[in-house]
Amino acid sequence: MPVLIAPCGGARVVHPDGERALARAAEAAGIVYVFPHVAGHALTSMQVSARSLWYQLYPIGGRTVSEGALERAQGAGCDVLVVTADGGGRGVNERNVRNGLAPLARGLSRESARHVGQLLARPAWLARFACDRDRFGMPNVHGPGRAAASLRVSMAGGAGGPGISWSDFDWIRPAWAGPLVVKGVLSGDDARRAAAIGASAVIVSNHGGRQLDGAAATLRVLEEVANAVHGELEVLIDGGIERGADVVKALALGARAVLIGRASLWGLAINGEKGVAQTLSILRDGIDRTMGLLGCSDVSMIGLEHVSWA
Ligand SMILES: Cc1cc2nc3c(=O)[nH]c(=O)nc-3n(C[C@H](O)[C@H](O)[C@H](O)COP(=O)(O)O)c2cc1C
Repeated sequence: MPVLIAPCGGARVVHPDGERALARAAEAAGIVYVFPHVAGHALTSMQVSARSLWYQLYPIGGRTVSEGALERAQGAGCDVLVVTADGGGRGVNERNVRNGLAPLARGLSRESARHVGQLLARPAWLARFACDRDRFGMPNVHGPGRAAASLRVSMAGGAGGPGISWSDFDWIRPAWAGPLVVKGVLSGDDARRAAAIGASAVIVSNHGGRQLDGAAATLRVLEEVANAVHGELEVLIDGGIERGADVVKALALGARAVLIGRASLWGLAINGEKGVAQTLSILRDGIDRTMGLLGCSDVSMIGLEHVSWA
């Protein structure tokens, strides 16, 4: 199935099994899980074949912290590194301002009290959440001999993520022996630049529209990116993929595969690993059905002739 699970920090807040459940469901479905640097579980506790995991890096804490993480990821057997390029600073996320996410992350208070009704309406989720004492941990983010960072501090503080520029690849590229993927590309020019610094693939992504309001919709720029690096780089895409037909449209416009972020978290929230497996199964059925209705028996038969802009 031409689908990967996207890196999403905070999965352990969604369900205590967090990344472990996502990794197991991905491995069972025969797909890759892009393991986030800011995961709530340690990479070494994943209990799946490292081949099914790609490691995603934000250069949080700078070069020393990042190089340590890359060394550990390679030691654990991860082959592929995904560097997220659109994490510099944090978008305003007006909906989260309105729904009071930051006060909630700081704990129950007068400010966050309006969420109590919602929490009590989901007692099973609340019990799981309350019992997981390490839910805000970021065990993969630490300097030599330093304590691990905390997602709670990062969410409540509203601090921006680390910025990254093309020159950072001068130290990232030599620090990683395997294939490199750049996530957060939205133009043909940047895709060519990624090829020039030695990337094997790009992920056309705008971080789910959660960073820069008004950034291009990923599907709109996919064809431009695919044409710019035709045959030189693999092109992947994420952003709003929720149905099998969405996957087929992305393949038709030039993507080799898609990543799903929020859809995997919704499955996780409902039923842990089984919920993620169900999300993937719904997606697989949708892809098969869409291809059948288009008369395509193989993904290689999906092409531009199957889509048109409304
Ligand atoms: C809760 C949440 C956490 C995320 N954390 C990360 C992250 O740690 N690293 C990253 O590269 N992208 C992160 N993303 C972005 C996703 O990888 C993905 O690019 C985005 O959600 C678009 O896919 P979707 O529309 O299927 O969710 C996050 C997205 C969400 C919703």
